Amino acid sequence: MRWPKGLTGLCYGGDYNPEQWPAEVWRTDVELMRRARVNLVTVGVFAWSRLEPQPGRYDFDWLDRVLDLLHDGGIRVALATPTASPPPWFSLRHPDALPVTADGVRLGHGSRDTYCASAPAYRTAARRIAAALADRYRDHPALALWHVHNEYGTSCYCEHVAVAFRAWLRARHGDLDRLNEAWTGSFWSQHYSDWAQVCPPRATQYLGNPSQLLDFRRFVSDELLAAYVEQRDLLRAATPDVPVTTNYVLGGWVPVDHARWSAEVDLVAVDHYPTEAGPGAEEQTAFAADLARCWARRTARSGARKGPFLSDSVAAGALPNMPGGPAWLLMESAPNLLLTPGRMHAKEPGRMTRHSLAHVARGSRGAMFFQWRASRGGAEVFGSALVPHAGPDSRAFREAVSLGAALDRLSEVDAGTVRAPVAVAWDAESWWATQATVLPSARIDYAAEVSAAHRALFRAGHTCDLVVDGDDLSGYALLVLPAHYLLSDRYAARIRNYLAAGGHLLVGYLSGIADEHARVRVGGYPGALRDLLGVRVEEFHPLDPATRLPLSDGNTGRDWAETVRLTGATPAVTYTGGLLDGQPALTRHRYGDGLAWYLSTRLDDDPYRDLLAGLAAAAGATPTCPAAPAGVEAVRRSTAGTSWLFLLNHTDATQTVPVSGENLLTGEYADPVVLPAGGCAVLRETAAG
Ligand code: GAL
Repeated sequence: MRWPKGLTGLCYGGDYNPEQWPAEVWRTDVELMRRARVNLVTVGVFAWSRLEPQPGRYDFDWLDRVLDLLHDGGIRVALATPTASPPPWFSLRHPDALPVTADGVRLGHGSRDTYCASAPAYRTAARRIAAALADRYRDHPALALWHVHNEYGTSCYCEHVAVAFRAWLRARHGDLDRLNEAWTGSFWSQHYSDWAQVCPPRATQYLGNPSQLLDFRRFVSDELLAAYVEQRDLLRAATPDVPVTTNYVLGGWVPVDHARWSAEVDLVAVDHYPTEAGPGAEEQTAFAADLARCWARRTARSGARKGPFLSDSVAAGALPNMPGGPAWLLMESAPNLLLTPGRMHAKEPGRMTRHSLAHVARGSRGAMFFQWRASRGGAEVFGSALVPHAGPDSRAFREAVSLGAALDRLSEVDAGTVRAPVAVAWDAESWWATQATVLPSARIDYAAEVSAAHRALFRAGHTCDLVVDGDDLSGYALLVLPAHYLLSDRYAARIRNYLAAGGHLLVGYLSGIADEHARVRVGGYPGALRDLLGVRVEEFHPLDPATRLPLSDGNTGRDWAETVRLTGATPAVTYTGGLLDGQPALTRHRYGDGLAWYLSTRLDDDPYRDLLAGLAAAAGATPTCPAAPAGVEAVRRSTAGTSWLFLLNHTDATQTVPVSGENLLTGEYADPVVLPAGGCAVLRETAAG
């Protein structure tokens, strides 16, 4: 597969919704896009009712004109299938395809995502509109990429789902005896004697069954994936040379295992919207980008079509053993706003550029936005846009133009991959299982635990991978396993091998507790990892928010503590005073050629950063740019011969970094690099930096 002509370098653009505007605006849009150096736009995401105004009657004329105009302007198209938003006629015709909530309410039309992915009528209609688009545009020169659906992530609890869930459970567990065993059916009289009794986890009188809830999330992920794959396959058949993807949405409510999905897309594409306005926005950005890059390794490994999205080294099969990862694409982000809970926060000048470069630094093949032009009505009327309501005579659009120019100057970095010496484990199923289980403390949130570990390494200046079960661990100096609640025997064995071969490992509380059915491994926590760690945890001590447990190193533990018995490990830090006085808080255990640490309490951000920085250093990992001052993010992309160092100043003061190289953003040689407040530099390094 070749990279479509006309789309070179980094991608820049976003969702374009011409169906919301009269045709006169389309010409202006293309002119403005050219001014901003936009080279890729996603078209038609929610346009089903305009494309198929009545069942089986298509109207493609407007889209023909839009695609022709874009093509004439040299802009390529990620053409979307509009299946995330069925038209009103569809819902009226197929009421059984409307989604039903867990408490039995059938939702009505009037928004997007109003469908049940298991309803045969929906699947048929979705295939039909996708096929019609493929047929119409298979040879259109603007077509660069298929963008299937939008942010798969809905759940439904209707009878169609019940039927599909049972079939999925049969395939997973085989028979009812095994299902009963896996779901601990003997608890609260939930022993099933007929498949017809098994249902989706609908609203119940009291607490639901965690194993059932976990399996339901797995099922929904697979069911939505099947819906994606159906469309992908028919698009591939029509246009074998055009890559197919879908945009991932991240969040605790999303029943999609993105790592698993990534073997089925030709390009990992993520949407990212930080939910914090302070420095947390930058930390969330780094986290999401590192996740995306690591998921993209699945795409590379699966042999999903090799092509221009994958570097030569990946295509040559070098990747599986290489920490870091291949390219992916930031498909959506908000240009001028941070969408914090309850408030839209205007991004400070330069912040859009910094966020975009942070994604590119971590492997994104560009920066795409939601959306091109702000809508004048509809549910997201005050959403973020490259062309805001004020029009092109605005700070937002001027920054959009300067970002386009910056991305243009950076196109050579596209060849580089990111290498990370340290990794944090990520596991969608541990997230789901901890959400489904009544944990000893409501203050434990899986995603927050993983983010805290990532943030600590980020603040210590490390570029960090996020690994999932199946990834090659051998290249990492340090692996951190925070709250990895679920652990299969197979994954535990892989971690054991990593450690025995000389790896360094930090395991956090609530890891290795349960098997893949969310059943606790008895005999002492953390069941699957006791021998590696040389500890046996007898009891948990969740703490109230005000309590601080003094530790022997001068720090304090909060929220969580444990009674840890030593079975081979030595204490590195102990609790001082109170019930746990003198007992281990942090332990250390040699295992094979490796070193395993266990942390049984929660640390504040600074001591956690110091701990991980120390463990990483002892394991032989060095920060990406040791000379970078606090608040300056440093990430490197490299090929065999060249490297590019991204330096992003997230502080509001000028920062000097004592490194040198040609700054691609200015075209000037810098030595040292002086970054104005909020400023960025991308250095082409002549020697290893
Ligand atoms: C995304 C979604 C877009 C738009 C955007 C608003 O998650 O894909 O369609 O809703 O959020 O911020």
